[in-house]
Amino acid sequence: MTYTTTASAAELKINGKTYHLPLVEGTMGDKAIDISNLLRETGYITLDSGYKNTGSCTSSVTYLDGRGGILRYRGYDIEDLAKNCLFVEVAYLLLHGKLPNAAELEAFKQLIGRFALIHEDMIHFFDHFPSHASPMSILSVMVNSLCNFYPEMSANPLEDFDETSTRLISKIRTIAAFSYKKSIGHPLVYPRHDLCYCGNFLHMMFDKPVRPYTVRPEIVTALNKLLILHADHEQNCSTSTVRLVGSAGVNIYAAIAAGINALWGPLHGGANEAVLDMLETIYADDSNFEKYINKAKDRNDPFRLTGFGHRVYKTYDPRAKIIKKACDEILRVLNVSDPLLDIAYKLEEIALHDEYFIERNLYPNVDFYSGIIYRALGIPSNMFTVMFALGRLPGWIAQWKEMHEDPATRIGRPRQVYIGEPARKFIPLAERP
Ligand code: ACO
Repeated sequence: MTYTTTASAAELKINGKTYHLPLVEGTMGDKAIDISNLLRETGYITLDSGYKNTGSCTSSVTYLDGRGGILRYRGYDIEDLAKNCLFVEVAYLLLHGKLPNAAELEAFKQLIGRFALIHEDMIHFFDHFPSHASPMSILSVMVNSLCNFYPEMSANPLEDFDETSTRLISKIRTIAAFSYKKSIGHPLVYPRHDLCYCGNFLHMMFDKPVRPYTVRPEIVTALNKLLILHADHEQNCSTSTVRLVGSAGVNIYAAIAAGINALWGPLHGGANEAVLDMLETIYADDSNFEKYINKAKDRNDPFRLTGFGHRVYKTYDPRAKIIKKACDEILRVLNVSDPLLDIAYKLEEIALHDEYFIERNLYPNVDFYSGIIYRALGIPSNMFTVMFALGRLPGWIAQWKEMHEDPATRIGRPRQVYIGEPARKFIPLAERP
């Protein structure tokens, strides 16, 4: 599929001269002005800090309507996928553009199972991080290092795409669980061939020689749902990073490691950990909601209501809706009563009725409730963003593949408007004041 160039064009007048810029339209009616020849024709570039209004590519992976609160992967509504699919099914959908049939899904699961181990030499890497090392830094280092163990895959990854993508999806789960085990000083638990993707992750995280872990189906269901909801989100910060770094021609592992680093930030994937910190702070401060709402509204105070607001959604994030419901369910099933959930409900209620948040269209985003579920599942808060990365990986890979297959792809290279010193006469060292 591709975009259409409409019959009409945009007119741009600069210093009395009119330029015609093609108007393009996507399959869901997204409208854009094609400015790719603007510099050549007019001598002007566009200035758009934070790329708030810049389309960097065309894509057929994910459709997002921020005003309607719609999110679709490859045309399928996120609600349907979260309700009916396994995470690996959605991963296949993102990677291959179609839902797998039973045989394809089975083959995909088998391949994931086959690649679950990491090279034993990589296990020694874990020994050299301090025990308080961030699991996100470990994850990015380990994923970057995979290119040294599977170099044949880096040379022409599109040729070996099935193996490379599956290898990454499988190994990132093992790396994540091993980094947790190392951080708490427990022996590593190896993957089992008989367990599903999520079951295997839980097994590697929580099984102990002295207390074997039983994988509970309700927890597996909740984890599948969370990973599906995070699996792709079009051209967000980490995905754009994967594309930008990938456009330089680096190996896929380096591009994905770059995406992991971008995701780490508290304004992006790191928000799920920050939300829990915020809820804990409010709880410890006698649930003084007013104080924190006022801080969030104060322009001179850097405090923000983490888990609220989104660059694209100007209504309730559809993922947050599903997660909020899932949160209720899982806490009931596990018989967990978490005071932080009450804090989150109350905060949401206050914010949704406050003029400041209403005017700015600030609603809960995907991160507002996800941390509470992870906490109920026994996953520590410093692993929350790692969980996000496990979910987002198929999306990153799908976008990376799409970029490499698109003949329009060029190395990503934004322009700037220089505001520094004009040309200055060089002063030799001895003459400098
Ligand atoms: N709390 C208080 N005020 C906020 C918040 C918030 N969470 N988010 C935005 N605002 C205000 C801004 O101060 C600004 O106000 P102003 O118009 O008076 O200056 C206005 O709303 C617009 O905000 P921007 O920062 O311009 O919006 P932007 O699109 O650049 O940022 C972002 C989006 C980063 C998500 C922002 O809403 C935020 O910081 N939220 C908290 C962090 C968070 O939850 N991040 C996770 C996002 S989801 C994800 O990446 C997976």
